[in-house]
Amino acid sequence: MKDILTAPFLIEMVRTTTNMYDHGWDERNGGNISLMLSEEEVAEYGDVKRVLRTIPTGFNAPELDGKYFLVTGTGKYFKNVQYAPDVNLGLVKIVDGGANAQLLWGFTDGGKFTSEFPAHMMSHAARLAVNPANRVVMHCHPTNLLAMTYVHSLDEKAFTRTLWQMCTECIVVFPDGVNVLPWMLCGTNEIGEATAEKMKTARLVVWSQHGLYGAGVDLDEAFGLIETAEKAAEIYMKIAHLPLVNTITDDQMHLLEGRFGVKAREGYLS
Ligand code: 13P
Ligand code: ZN
Repeated sequence: MKDILTAPFLIEMVRTTTNMYDHGWDERNGGNISLMLSEEEVAEYGDVKRVLRTIPTGFNAPELDGKYFLVTGTGKYFKNVQYAPDVNLGLVKIVDGGANAQLLWGFTDGGKFTSEFPAHMMSHAARLAVNPANRVVMHCHPTNLLAMTYVHSLDEKAFTRTLWQMCTECIVVFPDGVNVLPWMLCGTNEIGEATAEKMKTARLVVWSQHGLYGAGVDLDEAFGLIETAEKAAEIYMKIAHLPLVNTITDDQMHLLEGRFGVKAREGYLS
């Protein structure tokens, strides 16, 4: 059996957490990632039958029964994942209709998965229903998107249109737009359910005054979505206090749709 520390999925997870920390999106223990793996991928690197511990989840997610996830630990710092992946990450199998997670590797200090596990698992279920290739849910605290939720309307169409207008490629990268939740108590099943509901129609969900969720088929896609939205928010925060002289018009957005073969969220362009 191969050493799990050499597994491409583990190496990519370590690189991604390090990169996110370096971007300033994950101060202290801020942020969390879950990456769905197939049994074949896991079996190459570990004994899928040997359960180290069973950890209750506090929710149900029958769609995810039997699925494997590499996930960041609660209270763990992204900056430390590269130095001790076995402490800061865990590999779990969802069982009992989602009520329990069997720990197969990691969390060696007795830790457990992120407090945002409900939002992650419920979002996986929601995204898998839209796109069976979805593998990643990623949460972080990007500075400018967070700042934007203090000064911009939280109306989803208005929020999305502002981001699209900030960089030409935004509409190409996230034509489905950005959904927005009001401030809610984090780490609860309620915010998990609300996030999953929003994930049905977009791969990006803003948690007002808190952060952002991104979903994708791989770590690169989820990271790239967040990176692009955060760049747009940065531009917005640089110009919001200045007179607006130019913008990207809806006609120009339609040209982008044609050039890149994307379709903007229904009703979001005139
Ligand atoms: P965890 O340390 O439990 O992952 O929580 C971090 C966070 O960002 C909460 O929203
Ligand atoms: Zn958070």
